This record gives sequence, structure tokens and C-alpha cells, in this order.
Amino acid sequence: MSTNLNVRDPEQKPMDIGVEHRDRKRLADELSVALADSYVLYGLTQHVHWNVTGPLFFGLHKLTEEQYEDLAGAIDQMAERIRAIGFFSPGGIHQMAAMTRLEKVPHAFSAEDMVRLLINGNQACAKTLRTAVARAEECDDVKTADLLTERIGQHEENCWMLRAILS
Ligand SMILES: [Fe+2]
Repeated sequence: MSTNLNVRDPEQKPMDIGVEHRDRKRLADELSVALADSYVLYGLTQHVHWNVTGPLFFGLHKLTEEQYEDLAGAIDQMAERIRAIGFFSPGGIHQMAAMTRLEKVPHAFSAEDMVRLLINGNQACAKTLRTAVARAEECDDVKTADLLTERIGQHEENCWMLRAILS
């Protein structure tokens, strides 16, 4: 999928942060896909929060609220990191849907299926983030690598909590 939605900010003054422009562009592209995946997972997590029914309702309703609030913060941090390295962030649900690597999910499902979809979504986000961290490390962008590594840990924790609900 093309990630050429990132354009350089024309107002940006020349930047010398020790990371080459070419590398920052590649990083902005990786960050944008990670951002899009997080955005789509945010929507899916809210969908479960709103629509779950049955014996799992209370636990899953609470857990998904914590997870989508955390994702909202992460989305903001990733978008602002793209700005900090000199590019415009993608924005809006249509752009995010065009850029994400997450698969489309069916509309109606049981609480157990909802949990499985959230596990898959968190795992997919973690995979995208691993690719982005590797790119950030290649470019010596330790700030981006730190931010994204922390996110991998959060998605792994989310999966653990979701799996615990099913066991
Ligand atoms: Fe709510």
C-alpha cells in the first residue's frame, strides 16, 4: 500500500537534528502506517465498548474504555512526532482507512469474537510497530524508536488482558 500521503511541510525551516531528510521521510511513512493502524484499532475498540453484550459485558466494556483512551494518546504522540521530524501527518478517517494494514472486520459478532478481533488488531499493530522501530534504529532516531517500542509493550499487554478474558 502506498504511504506517499506524507508531504514535507513547506513552512519548515531547514532542519539539522542528526537524521538525514531522506531517512526522516522514510520514518514519517512508517510512523504514518503505525498511526493509521492505531486509529483503526481505536475505532474497533470503541465499537466493542459500545456494542458488547452478554456475560462479558462489564469487564470488556471497562477494559476497552482504558484501551481506546490509551490509543487516543498514542495517536496524538505519533502524529506530533511526524510533525517534529518535518512532515505533515495524515489525518481524517478516510486517509487512515486507506493507509492501514489492519483488515476490515465484520460488523456483527459475539463478545468472544469481538475479543478475538481485538487481539488480532493489537497483534497487527505490534507487527507494524516492529517494522517502524527497526527503521528508526537504522536511522539513529532514538526518540521515535523509544516512542514506538513503548507502544509495542502496550499492545502486548492489551493482548494479554484480552486473552485472559477468553480463558
Ligand atoms: Fe463509554
